[in-house]
Amino acid sequence: MRMLILGGTAFLGRAIAIEALARGIEVTCVARGATPAPDGAALIRADRDADNALAEVAHGDWDAVVDVTRQPGHARRAVRDVQAHHWILVSSGNVYARFDQPEQSEEAAILPPLTADVMPDMSRYGEAKVACEEAVRRGCDSWTIVRSGLIGGAGDWSGRSGYYPWRFAHPTGPDVLVPPDLNFPVALIDVRDLSAWIVDCATRRIQGAFNAAGPTITLGELLATAQEVAGSQAVARPVPAPTLDEAGVGSWMGPSTLPLWIDDPEWRWFASLNTDRARQHGLTTRPLRDTLTAALEYENQRTEPRQTGLTDAEERDLRKRLPEAG
Ligand SMILES: NC(=O)c1ccc[n+]([C@@H]2O[C@H](COP(=O)([O-])OP(=O)(O)OC[C@H]3O[C@@H](n4cnc5c(N)ncnc54)[C@H](OP(=O)(O)O)[C@@H]3O)[C@@H](O)[C@H]2O)c1
Repeated sequence: MRMLILGGTAFLGRAIAIEALARGIEVTCVARGATPAPDGAALIRADRDADNALAEVAHGDWDAVVDVTRQPGHARRAVRDVQAHHWILVSSGNVYARFDQPEQSEEAAILPPLTADVMPDMSRYGEAKVACEEAVRRGCDSWTIVRSGLIGGAGDWSGRSGYYPWRFAHPTGPDVLVPPDLNFPVALIDVRDLSAWIVDCATRRIQGAFNAAGPTITLGELLATAQEVAGSQAVARPVPAPTLDEAGVGSWMGPSTLPLWIDDPEWRWFASLNTDRARQHGLTTRPLRDTLTAALEYENQRTEPRQTGLTDAEERDLRKRLPEAG
């Protein structure tokens, strides 16, 4: 079997390549080459912003193509130019129009597609992914659309899955400062589980659109698991929302944040995708403990700057602002 991965050198794409190689699949990755392809995979350097970027792989007689792009133009040109027996688009739960109610199934309303080829910024990410999905639906006969929830584990450069295990392992005081709402719903899918199922989709030519996410739990449960895998004596200490606002601490991801929660009722059920359909088609997910352990190992060895959470100085400063600190 010959698989073309459009991407394949970063987090999820790399894990898909590694999984496919382990199953004896011949893998070719296309990327600009910021990082090398996994050992055993071929890398073709190309910048997909160019109209003819995929000329070299256009007539490869690929058994399967996996595309991880966020850019509608990339997706449109890929299905126009590359021939494959089966196409897999890695999409996102962000395609859904509303998250103020739990358990979006694949039939829930989605956003309108972005008409432009280039997403202007991440605020249009959901619409951009809808446009990528539309390109695949229209341009391919055999396809799987994988609407992923939050992905965690080794290689999670965003730091969302690794921040709390790392913080519990490296506390700045007797406690770890956490968001105020420990009942906030969260879900993490291990990058290894998602990759394995995506390779299954390629080998079995699974048809249709699927939500693929980890089980929905509470933030409090995730924090307890993070504390456990870190072997930490520090306790989780929720910070009131007004204190976070005053300190300029944000949410979800990025620098100066407490990740994995969103202080907005319209996004409360973001992490509650209904995954029944994917599970009926073979998706399995490992215990969260294993994912957070892998994320912690990655954070402990991270060479590039941390992307998400509070620095030591920021956490100490925030602790001083807590009402009880007086
Ligand atoms: N992380 C999450 O929690 C999460 C949640 C839901 C859905 N998703 C989806 O999951 C996928 C994540 O995939 P990933 O981790 O492999 O993606 P990624 O980290 O965004 O990497 C993108 C890949 O595409 C290549 N690339 C980017 N721009 C390119 C260009 N102009 N021309 C050619 N290649 C280009 C990159 O290599 P170069 O930079 O070297 O070109 C890299 O191999 C995405 O589809 C994302 O939307 C992620």
